Amino acid sequence: MNALVDVKNICKIYNPGENEVRALDNVSLSIDKGEYVAIIGQSGSGKSTLMNVLGCLDVPTSGDYYLNGSNVSELSDDELSDIRNLEIGFIFQGFNLIPNLTAIENVELPLIYRGVGKKERNQLAIEALNMVGLSHRMDHKPSEMSGGQQQRVAIARAIAAKPPVILADEPTGNLDSSSSKDIIKILKNLHKDGRTVILITHDNEIADQAKRVIRIIDGKIEKDYINEHFAED
Ligand SMILES: Nc1ncnc2c1ncn2[C@@H]1O[C@H](COP(=O)(O)OP(=O)(O)OP(=O)(O)O)[C@@H](O)[C@H]1O
Ligand SMILES: [Mg+2]
Repeated sequence: MNALVDVKNICKIYNPGENEVRALDNVSLSIDKGEYVAIIGQSGSGKSTLMNVLGCLDVPTSGDYYLNGSNVSELSDDELSDIRNLEIGFIFQGFNLIPNLTAIENVELPLIYRGVGKKERNQLAIEALNMVGLSHRMDHKPSEMSGGQQQRVAIARAIAAKPPVILADEPTGNLDSSSSKDIIKILKNLHKDGRTVILITHDNEIADQAKRVIRIIDGKIEKDYINEHFAED
């Protein structure tokens, strides 16, 4: 069986030449369907760069990426955008919420791209906002919400359509420890539900909640291990 994610010797070099930054340096990893993986590393270690490659938002400078058995570099733009819309729920580090839309409208937006009808869209969005504890802020715009609340809207947006793969870049970065616990619980439940969860973090405590941990230092994989503390509960 093919791995869901199969990355072979990828490098990502920004600004090739004298000032080049080797953000990913010969990274190889494979992730199976249904895994719950934390990618941990310090600021600048290449985590978001890796997420962008895994999510087909950016292409590596060299190396190969097979997603579900297909070589991503051989897919058309339409095929890539279908993958991004149908297969992957993104939680971006900077939330990427649309400022003039309310919480529920932000959550519904990717559902529109997926062609989900109005009524179902509304139901899925309400369900997702309930899951992140924001049923009382559905009609607020991002500027009317706290940072942590905006982050939770971004999470609701990523999970509303129930995509098989969740890519989360520092989903708890702006949250207090109790809200962080809630989010980690949501991610764990998504994993229990059979989804593949890839969580990016700089926080050891958060990474310790995942089943497998991949540690990245200066664009290289330093460690890749199964977390013995992981409890499915
Ligand atoms: N568009 C870009 N152009 C040039 N350099 C970049 C670009 N994006 C990222 N970098 C550099 O690549 C390296 C990895 O960046 P990346 O954003 O992947 O780090 P990160 O691990 O996500 O960090 P953080 O925890 O701060 O979000 C950093 O040294 C960064 O300065
Ligand atoms: Mg980052």
